[in-house]
Amino acid sequence: GKMETKVTWYGHSTLGMESAGYSILIDPFFSGNPATTKKADNVKADFILITHGHSDHIGDSISIAKRTNALVIANFEIANWLGNKGLKNTHAQHIGGGHQHPFGYLKMTSALHGSSLPDGSNGGNPAGFLITTNQHKKIYFAGDTGLFGDMRLIGEEGVDLAVLPIGDNYTMGPTDALRAVKLIQPRHVIPIHYNTWPLIAQDVNSWAQTVQAETDSLVHILQPGESFDL
Ligand code: NI
Ligand code: MN
Repeated sequence: GKMETKVTWYGHSTLGMESAGYSILIDPFFSGNPATTKKADNVKADFILITHGHSDHIGDSISIAKRTNALVIANFEIANWLGNKGLKNTHAQHIGGGHQHPFGYLKMTSALHGSSLPDGSNGGNPAGFLITTNQHKKIYFAGDTGLFGDMRLIGEEGVDLAVLPIGDNYTMGPTDALRAVKLIQPRHVIPIHYNTWPLIAQDVNSWAQTVQAETDSLVHILQPGESFDL
């Protein structure tokens, strides 16, 4: 049958989503990303979503957006910054606000993290994305974040897939990411933001076994470049 939504992990926090015939890139960090062999100069994008201003998330957004003319969706401060860098095709949203885009309804969620931009500019507050596809599937991209209790509110919407950081040090580690799964209760989970560098190395198989044992969520461990069909 026809796959409604496909999510691809390119390593670290870089993801692709194919939905409703559109190609969406999230935090497109290819150049200098030790976890990927994919190159920024041939990746497809109709939309680029940026969770926060850190260089491992802004990544190659500017060059990809200039080449593809993709619409870049980010918080107001990052969208303004991109405008100053010459990108005119941006859409600013902010935390708690949703908007119907061609690929689905995107609501910006809070995240506990920083968001300064690579040149030191103010990148506003960090965010996650809760996307309701046109086929009514809900996907929560948490972004870089620590555990927070309001993940329960996100879970109340009925999350089909949660994409969560587990690397520790900069974000939730495995123990708090397990607690996040218990708050969100998604049908499926994809762990990200681990093993890019030794500082965030994790035993993902062990984490997956614990999640499977303690929750009803199904964990999908992807290798960089692999996809999950929702
Ligand atoms: Ni970050
Ligand atoms: Mn990061």
